[in-house]
Amino acid sequence: MTETNRQWIYARPVTGQLVAENFSYREIPIIDPKQGQVLVRNRLVSTDPANRTYFVMQNYRPKLDPGDVMAGFAIGEVVASRDRRFRIGDVIHGDLGWQDYAIVNSYERSEYVYKCSLGYSDEELIGILGVTGLTAYFGLQEVGRLNAGETVVVGGATGACGAIIGQLAKLAGCRVIGFGGGSEKCRWLVEELGFDAAVDYKGNDPATDLALNCPDGVDFFSDAVGGIVTQSTIPLMKPGARWYHYGNVSTYDSATLDAPVDLGKAMTPTLRKICDDRNLHPRFLLVFDYYCQRLRAEGELAALLKAGKIKAPTTIVEGFEKLPDTLINGTLRGNRYGKLNVRL
Ligand SMILES: NC(=O)c1ccc[n+]([C@@H]2O[C@H](COP(=O)([O-])OP(=O)(O)OC[C@H]3O[C@@H](n4cnc5c(N)ncnc54)[C@H](OP(=O)(O)O)[C@@H]3O)[C@@H](O)[C@H]2O)c1
Repeated sequence: MTETNRQWIYARPVTGQLVAENFSYREIPIIDPKQGQVLVRNRLVSTDPANRTYFVMQNYRPKLDPGDVMAGFAIGEVVASRDRRFRIGDVIHGDLGWQDYAIVNSYERSEYVYKCSLGYSDEELIGILGVTGLTAYFGLQEVGRLNAGETVVVGGATGACGAIIGQLAKLAGCRVIGFGGGSEKCRWLVEELGFDAAVDYKGNDPATDLALNCPDGVDFFSDAVGGIVTQSTIPLMKPGARWYHYGNVSTYDSATLDAPVDLGKAMTPTLRKICDDRNLHPRFLLVFDYYCQRLRAEGELAALLKAGKIKAPTTIVEGFEKLPDTLINGTLRGNRYGKLNVRL
């Protein structure tokens, strides 16, 4: 804990790959909350691919401008409250930003600002029971609708959402093939998470590797990355196969204000024709649109965790000063297994 509020600022406009020089550090006095506000001390900050999109577009939060405190989901603890609904010691999930202390305006609350359930670790609250676990859960509920014996392909399987999607698909009795970056991560998917097979998207011929693992075609494609993963999977999808397209991480770190994230970048005329012929339609889902069901999903995922039926792989980096490097070299360059967080 510090006496001042350390902050990472989005300092210089992003013009290409994100670099440390896009951020600057400062310390400011801690602000007292006003009527209707609470002061939250951050404990664990989530670094997510979506952080990279905040510089170039508005999505579920306003676009960042240079000079803004870097945004990001975090778990924190209420240390002062001028809103009777929040007490000192309450644990909060929200877009608390890259800073030690955040002011939460209760009158501005959105779906992702809430008091956390008791009895879970910060890592669980921000991962499997938070945005990424629920992205997996609602995607399978709304789009996957899996049946035992089906073949499921998971893009971004080594990441926070994909690791949970793959395990839930295994629990549903499916044959699950995941994409990972490199042989070590592919081994991890099979040996640690119980996937049936894994394909190295950085390998020589991922399309052929995937085809060998899906001799009967693909019933459900969980697509978070686009690029070669999407291009390898579409030709194997059965007519009418379900397609959960919830992100496009392979394109994020090249996005600029002039050329924001392009969700259709992987599509070629040949792939479009396959989609037309087989009635294949990507379905996008924003996890927060389902947050009215958050507590039910949290309860089911927590029960699976407690019963040892699912793992919540997490990588933790220690230290406020590591935030920019963790987003740049961890999240955006793939140096992590499962969910990646920074503990302050
Ligand atoms: N729609 C929603 O509501 C919602 C909610 C949460 C997240 N998302 C989106 O879901 C996606 C995944 O999020 P996450 O939290 O799971 O991210 P994450 O933990 O950082 O994992 C990213 C995954 O993408 C893979 N990847 C990265 N670059 C790739 C490339 N060029 N080609 C193929 N695979 C690549 C990584 O593979 P390796 O590390 O093995 O290389 C890793 O498995 C993001 O696009 C995010 O924006 C959407």
